Amino acid sequence: MAVPAPPDKPAARPAPSTPSGLGVSLLAWYDRHRRALPWRALPGETADPYRVWLSEIMLQQTTIAAVKPYFERFLALFPDVRALAEAPSEAVMSAWAGLGYYSRARNLHACAQAVAREHGGIFPDTEDGLRALPGIGAYTAAAIAAIAFGRPAAAVDGNVERVLTRLRAIADPLPGAKPRIRAETLALVPPDRPGDFAQALMDLGATICTPRRPACALCPWRDPCAARAAGMQESYPVKTRKRENPVRRGAAFVALRRDGAILLRTRPPKGLLGGMAEVPGGGWSEGFDPASALLDAPLDARWKRLTAPVRHVFTHFPLELAVYVASVPRSEPAPEGCRWTPLSALDGEPLPSVMRKVIAAALEDR
Ligand code: ADE
Repeated sequence: MAVPAPPDKPAARPAPSTPSGLGVSLLAWYDRHRRALPWRALPGETADPYRVWLSEIMLQQTTIAAVKPYFERFLALFPDVRALAEAPSEAVMSAWAGLGYYSRARNLHACAQAVAREHGGIFPDTEDGLRALPGIGAYTAAAIAAIAFGRPAAAVDGNVERVLTRLRAIADPLPGAKPRIRAETLALVPPDRPGDFAQALMDLGATICTPRRPACALCPWRDPCAARAAGMQESYPVKTRKRENPVRRGAAFVALRRDGAILLRTRPPKGLLGGMAEVPGGGWSEGFDPASALLDAPLDARWKRLTAPVRHVFTHFPLELAVYVASVPRSEPAPEGCRWTPLSALDGEPLPSVMRKVIAAALEDR
């Protein structure tokens, strides 16, 4: 006797913790909760590579809230990559002023020029092609390749590292764990929606899988998450304890002319705070010798040292500056490479925070 055929089963759903199951649950969550951001295409629309690239460069080291108005202004001033490439660099730098990390703006302009000249105004559509352009590193190349061109790329930034190390309970410390995290992320990218997957991971890391007190109850990956199963969410990612960077020290000279001008100069274009303004001073080093600080004074005057140094913490080292102040006559010429700037015009100078602190300390002491 023939065995009756089983009734048709509905298409099997992938198990929640398999790569395709994880992709399905994350994308379903993204479809309901995606953040509306000015550079994001609407569902079903194709993303514009220029907008995606511009947003990714601006979002390096800067929050979404800070980027939004700059993004809109850039698009109004430079509507496409050719317009940006042809703009004078002063126009690009002044549209960028306030976003910080000015080397990004210089690379942005150089990248637009490379796309316009070497690629006929069309962005390369592969990770490798994008990586070869100025200002585009591994993360940014993967993000643009996935979001603008639908390439199956793993865009792994700090947020994504946190999500993946929790999901898989990866206990190897960062940065050593980076290659494994990249491989685990890549294995999850769904071939039909890589761009949405990349942005879904970014949104999950920013809104649910936060560094402290993650909102696990709302997370589409709460069941498959290995860190949550162990109650150890906040212990990931594990980081190698950083060696404390030693303090660097130096001297800063605030020369005030009696008509209310201050002596400034421009830092060299490359390197730390490249192209920004500062008061004159010597080098910053661990072995700075206070006894010879006055050898770096920009002009002869009666320099008075403030009792408290000015402290500032850069990403890579803490800095302590001994601040020297002097009052000089109106007739004092500016030494070579320096300029007198009225104190009333300081707001228009690209002064980094550390220099604003130095000047404030000197003026307070008057
Ligand atoms: N952070 C960096 N790129 C982003 C993007 N495309 N969406 C949301 N957050 C981001």
